[in-house]
Amino acid sequence: MTEGQEIYDVLVVGTGASGMSAAVTAAHQGLKVLVVDKAPLYGGTTARSGGWLWIPGTRLATEQGIHEPPGAARTYLQHEATTHFDAARARPTSAPMNRNPRRSRSPSPRRNAAPPEEPAMLKIESVQVSYGAIEAVKGVSMEVRAGEVVAIIGANGAGKSTLLKSICGLEPVAGGRILLDGEDLARVPPHRRVAMGVAMSPEGRGVFADQTVRENLMLGAYGRRKDPVSVEAAIAREFQRFPRLAERQHQLSGTLSGGEQQMLAISRALMSEPRLLLLDEPSLGLAPLIIKDIFEAIRQLRRSGLTILLVEQMARQALGVADRAYVLETGRITLEGAGRALLGDAKVRAAYLGAH
Ligand SMILES: Nc1ncnc2c1ncn2[C@@H]1O[C@H](COP(=O)(O)OP(=O)(O)O)[C@@H](O)[C@H]1O
Ligand SMILES: [Mg+2]
Repeated sequence: MTEGQEIYDVLVVGTGASGMSAAVTAAHQGLKVLVVDKAPLYGGTTARSGGWLWIPGTRLATEQGIHEPPGAARTYLQHEATTHFDAARARPTSAPMNRNPRRSRSPSPRRNAAPPEEPAMLKIESVQVSYGAIEAVKGVSMEVRAGEVVAIIGANGAGKSTLLKSICGLEPVAGGRILLDGEDLARVPPHRRVAMGVAMSPEGRGVFADQTVRENLMLGAYGRRKDPVSVEAAIAREFQRFPRLAERQHQLSGTLSGGEQQMLAISRALMSEPRLLLLDEPSLGLAPLIIKDIFEAIRQLRRSGLTILLVEQMARQALGVADRAYVLETGRITLEGAGRALLGDAKVRAAYLGAH
C-alpha cells in the first residue's frame, strides 16, 4: 500500500444504478463515500449509468475502471485522493462536509427583487464556452438579482444548456467570469457550488431510473446526509409540493411518467436548499396539463422568494413567469428586458411565440 492514500468507506466508480443506490444508503449511514465520475452532478454527488461499486472488505477488482486523475477525484467530496484505494484499511469516518456558512436561504416570504444597485447574486461576464472547435457560448453577460426569476429563451442549440452547465461547473469556462455573490467561481468545483447554494434541474431530468423516488430525493440532500432530521423535513416539504411523489415514493423512478420525473428532478434540486435554482427546460416533452402544474410550482417557488434562472423553449410561459428575460441566439444575447415587455416584442413574437 502506498503512503498517503486517502481511505474511503465506499467508492463508487461510474455509478451504475444499483451501485448508486448502495452508495446513497451507505452515505446516509454516515459512511464516507467517494463517487468518481465526470457525468452530470446533482445535489453534490454525481452519477451516470454503467460502473462499479466497491465496498470495504471486498477486493477492489475494478481498480482499472478508475480513469480519474487525483485532481479530479479531489473535486468530489472535498477530499484529497489518489486513484488507488486500499480496501483493507477502509473504516467508517465522520469527517464533516465543508459547509459554506453563507448558503442558508432566507426564510422570508416573497420579497421584491433586489434593487439594481444591490450586487447581483449571479453575475456572468463575457463568458465563453467551447466544445473543441465549436464555440457554444460566445461572450455572454447577464445577471440575476436576489429574488428574481430570470428566463433565458432561445432556439434549440442556442447554448442555453451549456450556459447553465458552466454556472454549475460542469463545463469549463474558456473566457470571462462567473460570480456568485461577488465570488469568482472559476476555481470552485461543482460540488462546492452546490454547498454555496446553486442547484440544477437538468434538461432531460436525469433521474436515477433504478432508484426509488425517495432515494433520488436523498441524493439531492447529499451534502446534509449527516442531518437526517433536516433531510426528512425537506422530503416532507417536497411531498407536499408534489403529492404524486409522495404516493410514488417507493417506486423506481424509471417507471414514473415524464411529468412525474420532472417533478422529481425539481424536488431533488430543491433538496439541497439552494438559493439559486437553475431549471433547464422543465416543460420539455410534457403534456399541456402537466406543463401547467410545473409552471404553477415555479410560481409558488417565486412567491417563496427563491431566485430562479429558467431556461425554456416554451417562451410564452417562461416570459409570463419571469421578472426579466434574455434571448440567446447562437451563443449570444440578442435581446433582454422585462418578461412581459418581451412578450409584446414583435421580434420575440415572430421568432418564439408563433405569432406574426
Ligand atoms: N457535449 C457537447 N459536445 C459538442 N458540442 C456540444 C455539446 N453539447 C452541446 N454542444 C453544441 O453546443 C451548442 C449549444 O448546445 P446547447 O447548450 O445544448 O444548446 P441549447 O440548450 O440552447 O439547445 C450546439 O451547437 C450543440 O450542438
Ligand atoms: Mg438545452
